[in-house]
Amino acid sequence: MKFPEESEVCSDSAILNLWHPLVPEAEVPVGSVSELVLLGRTVFFTTGVSDEYLVWSEKSKAPVSGGSEPFPEDKQLPVLVRYGYLWTSLGSPPNGLFEIPEFEEPDRRNIHAATIGVHCSAPRAIENFLDMGHFPYVHPGILGAEPHTEVVEYDVRVDTDSNEIWATECLFYQPQAAATSVGGQLVGYTYRVPHPYCVMLYKTNPVDQERMDVIGLFVRSVTSEHIEASMFLSLLDGVNTDSTIRKFQQEVFAQDKPILENQHPKRLPLNPRAETPVRADKSAIVYRRWLSDLGITYGVIPEA
Ligand SMILES: [Fe+2]
Repeated sequence: MKFPEESEVCSDSAILNLWHPLVPEAEVPVGSVSELVLLGRTVFFTTGVSDEYLVWSEKSKAPVSGGSEPFPEDKQLPVLVRYGYLWTSLGSPPNGLFEIPEFEEPDRRNIHAATIGVHCSAPRAIENFLDMGHFPYVHPGILGAEPHTEVVEYDVRVDTDSNEIWATECLFYQPQAAATSVGGQLVGYTYRVPHPYCVMLYKTNPVDQERMDVIGLFVRSVTSEHIEASMFLSLLDGVNTDSTIRKFQQEVFAQDKPILENQHPKRLPLNPRAETPVRADKSAIVYRRWLSDLGITYGVIPEA
């Protein structure tokens, strides 16, 4: 998919040097080449029978199928396979990706729920994911219900060791918090932003009081105003089928999509005075300041 009207190619080195999700590992074609747009550039990817993944950005340098010449290393982009996705970078990425220890727990269900294209910037999608205030209005009967509209005081901070945003002590009344829920409950949330375009939440699990379900949103910025958002789940759910779980998450995201696409400006303004803050926006204020401090310019309207 191409958007020639917005053919700006990302030149934001802070973003270029990050890992970015391309597709679920299962969708990497074996023996043929797929392409998609990342940060305004077309990238190509394939895998062979040896499970070696190749990602590159120049079509003329595509590896010859069945050829005896190895694909030159200096034409390849960095590759990482983690959490069920293929990741790459258009710059010099860090050694590894942020950690999700729950992914390794043997009784977890790690599921790719969906990848959904949205006409919005990546930071708008992350900020919406952080916002509990929209639950009763956008997800009525599922993640919220009137008159339970209050966002109670919670804590949000940037962890100095990891430089990740953590929002804790979040509580919200939800009529159907998960596919496993059998009624309304006060749900505890922890939010985490480990990457400018990736966000996670840990929420009370209806099955196991001691541990939390993990839901991640890993966003590929196609251009600064178009995204493909992948929903990653690591759940304690021994009851529902994968398709029931996926359907629940897809229905929730389908409710967010028109809201996201109607936000203006599409790029997230980082000036703290650009949009009126309310208490529910506490995480948003920290997120915007954090993006500013990281020097992010792609997908945002930087502070003057
Ligand atoms: Fe939502």
